Amino acid sequence: MNSFIESVNYFKGNNPEDIVKQYGTPLYVYSEEILRDRMHKVSQVITKYPYTANYSVKANTNVNILKIALEEGLNCDAMSTGEIEMLFKAGFPKERIFFIPNNVASSELKYSIEHEVMTSLDSLSQLELFGQCCNDMNVAPEKRLCAVRINPGVGAGHCEKVVTGGKKTKFGIAEEDIPEIFKITEKYNLTIAGINQHIGSGFMDGQPYLDAVTNFLEIALQFKNLKFIDFGGGYGIPYHKLDDEKDYPMEDFKKKLEPILDNFVSKYGSAPMFKSEPGRYCVAESSVILGRVHATKQNNGHLYAGTDIGMNVLVRPSMYDSWHDVEVLRGGKPVSRDNLIEQNVVGNICESGDILAKERKLPRIETGDLACILDTGAYGWSMCSTYNSRPRPAEVLICKDGTVKQIRRRETIEDLMMLF
Ligand code: LLP
Repeated sequence: MNSFIESVNYFKGNNPEDIVKQYGTPLYVYSEEILRDRMHKVSQVITKYPYTANYSVKANTNVNILKIALEEGLNCDAMSTGEIEMLFKAGFPKERIFFIPNNVASSELKYSIEHEVMTSLDSLSQLELFGQCCNDMNVAPEKRLCAVRINPGVGAGHCEKVVTGGKKTKFGIAEEDIPEIFKITEKYNLTIAGINQHIGSGFMDGQPYLDAVTNFLEIALQFKNLKFIDFGGGYGIPYHKLDDEKDYPMEDFKKKLEPILDNFVSKYGSAPMFKSEPGRYCVAESSVILGRVHATKQNNGHLYAGTDIGMNVLVRPSMYDSWHDVEVLRGGKPVSRDNLIEQNVVGNICESGDILAKERKLPRIETGDLACILDTGAYGWSMCSTYNSRPRPAEVLICKDGTVKQIRRRETIEDLMMLF
């Protein structure tokens, strides 16, 4: 594909140069159309049984994006009380939030108990702590509900750092510890309302997830009267779309999932609410970053294009060696990919690892061009930092009707100074 942004009319007739003239660079630019499309697709993964898709907000907690998730009928999962606060700010009621923390202090558990947000505990010691918090707060027996996160023994993901199931991970309670769960719930008079798992992030082959669901549902038979079973997130997106990579095979995946659920429902005798926790799938493809090329150079035969998109703006390439497609825009239009030469697209941060695209075949980049980095809506802004005291970028939304709306203002040096 020569240009993704042209193929989907990403900017809806706006010239990216006009957008950055108003909002500056680096700039996260979201497409409302793509956002709503992906959010709708995940809400349809299970149609035969009661099902909710919980958007996993760690991928992107912009409150204006959360409001769109609310409108699209998604529930959400949160990893911290900060994420819960963002959800409340966006208008989510407590019933539509699932808190899935890892290794938290009693203060966070007390917050979720006080706000009556369903909470999953991912170790025996956190379950014990939750029970103690309920005792400390004199929680009534009928309100002592929680979930537990089980490790189904299967993991998957785009790299080792994001695999969260299987033998080598800090997450979840191992299957052999399930009898201990029941001892703790009895001790504190807790009721396990649901169980959840999450095997990892960013896989394009659904089979490990289906295997994990199969294992998990076998495990679920040990729990009586479950109100919900949550299979976790992880569906990948085509990061190599300029090389025509195909989408995650959602339809095929749906077809394979259904008989696994049928089998469970007939054994269990009823269908609890099934849930999933997609983060990346909902938001990744809905954003690009626009950055200015401020310098080009040749160092010992290697070509570099120096942009203002440092690793503080998008950390995924330096953190995971992740691939993000790059389009080169000149005068706001994509430069043809007919003649490609190997170049390095780098940022403005004082680290040699500050590389967005390494030895990448791209149209020859010139100073003054815009670099347009694709698929940055998930784990993009939410993982930004102020390293090198660089304020974090602004975010704008291209609405369905083509209007451009700022959905987060650019951070300023004054904002950074406010902490002192
Ligand atoms: N549920 C739980 C419990 C999780 O830990 C995660 C992601 C998700 C759901 C959502 O996974 P998703 O559908 O987005 O794959 N920063 C990494 C990804 C880390 C994912 C952490 N947990 C990246 O940029 O690739």
